[in-house]
Amino acid sequence: MMPLDGTVITPQISDAYQPFLKPSRYKAVKGGRGSGKSHFFAQAAVVNCAAVLGTRVVCIREVQKTLRESAKRLIEDKIETLGAKGFKVKNDEIETPGGGVIIFNGMQDHTAQSIKSLEGFKVAWVEEAQTLSKTSLELLRPTIRIDDSEIWASWNPRSAGDPIDAFFSGEHPPENAIIRHINFDQNPWFTSVLKAERIYDFESNPHRYAHIWLGEYEPMVAGAIWDRATLHANRRREAPQLERILVGVDPAITSPETNARGTPDYHGIGVAALGADDRGYVLEDASRQGGPKDWAERTIATFDKWEADAVVVEVNQGGDMVKHTLQSYRRELPIIEVRATRGKHVRAEPISALYKLNRISHVGTHRELEDQLCRFTNHGYEGPSGESPDRAEAIIWALSELFPALTQSTQKMNHEENFPVVEGAWMG
Ligand SMILES: Nc1ncnc2c1ncn2[C@@H]1O[C@H](COP(=O)(O)OP(=O)(O)OP(=O)(O)O)[C@@H](O)[C@H]1O
Ligand SMILES: [Mg+2]
Repeated sequence: MMPLDGTVITPQISDAYQPFLKPSRYKAVKGGRGSGKSHFFAQAAVVNCAAVLGTRVVCIREVQKTLRESAKRLIEDKIETLGAKGFKVKNDEIETPGGGVIIFNGMQDHTAQSIKSLEGFKVAWVEEAQTLSKTSLELLRPTIRIDDSEIWASWNPRSAGDPIDAFFSGEHPPENAIIRHINFDQNPWFTSVLKAERIYDFESNPHRYAHIWLGEYEPMVAGAIWDRATLHANRRREAPQLERILVGVDPAITSPETNARGTPDYHGIGVAALGADDRGYVLEDASRQGGPKDWAERTIATFDKWEADAVVVEVNQGGDMVKHTLQSYRRELPIIEVRATRGKHVRAEPISALYKLNRISHVGTHRELEDQLCRFTNHGYEGPSGESPDRAEAIIWALSELFPALTQSTQKMNHEENFPVVEGAWMG
């Protein structure tokens, strides 16, 4: 892969990456954080362009809003540290020796037509390939078509259902592919800052550790009624025209001191909407910690931000106090009260069914909320001990109200009168 142009360049390549130093149609590296994936491919791009005049490389992401999100900066650093000659860094691309170029593209910005502009490229490097959509992968593969062209992919695995994992790790991996799983322990340049972060997760975040640092799929709970693949498959970058926007609120009932884990619970605050296309859209997880003032203010600010139609609250735990607290901050706030007569997972089930039918899209990624959803089972919530799934509950309330046919047994209460309330009294 890397004939060097004589004496100038000595790339730093660890043992784990040696298998990639020969030509191959596909080169795929997956693994946990800090395993050297980006540095390796950035370096490989520079070395290839230095070695073969006129080489054209495209660095691809599914979504690239700005060049700052791209590998451009890293490639510039590699040109510098390698002392590679004949490169010219421009605003949005890098000219390479002999009339070649390195460009940076977001697949979402391409159409079936515009992707053809990449046909003359020798290398396509897909960074953060776990987010690559099926459509993008299908568009890209036959586009990179010149003799000996290569497709490189680097990613942190999330789910076996992600298109990149299905492609390289599924039943029919492509021929002529070098595929490796490489973690931090094979990166000789793993920094002390990264080491401290890793140890923090090992000790304080054990259920996420294997995913973050060992490149394993995101933790799944046996019998979970939400799954990552469905969440990812339906994810959208933008919401369509929206018909009705609701803010769901599920304040934590414990005060910081009484929480079983000794850490303050989050107050669940989530925004969901019904689209003109009759699908549901999860717009924001605005959950936060703090006292009643904190969650009430955040709820109202969120309501204003989205110009929402109403706030959906649950009445059983704190009586009417959730409503009263909110209305003590804004008297005319439209509130829909729902009474929970059944267990958490029973309320969650019909909503998870909507997700399975591809009727709900998350707009953007809401990691903590999605973690909670994926820990609901038919028997209840199986989160870290003591954790209450407040983020998920808030969204489930809002979606239940948006899709009322599903949740008929949830009794709605309409109080016309407003009661004066003492700020935060119910929190004790
Ligand atoms: N070839 C190299 N030369 C010098 N330093 C390197 C090299 N490879 C990796 N490093 C160091 O290791 C760190 C992690 O490498 P890199 O960013 O490539 O990992 P990654 O697998 O892309 O991580 P992430 O999954 O977080 O994107 C870098 O910030 C850098 O400090
Ligand atoms: Mg990286």
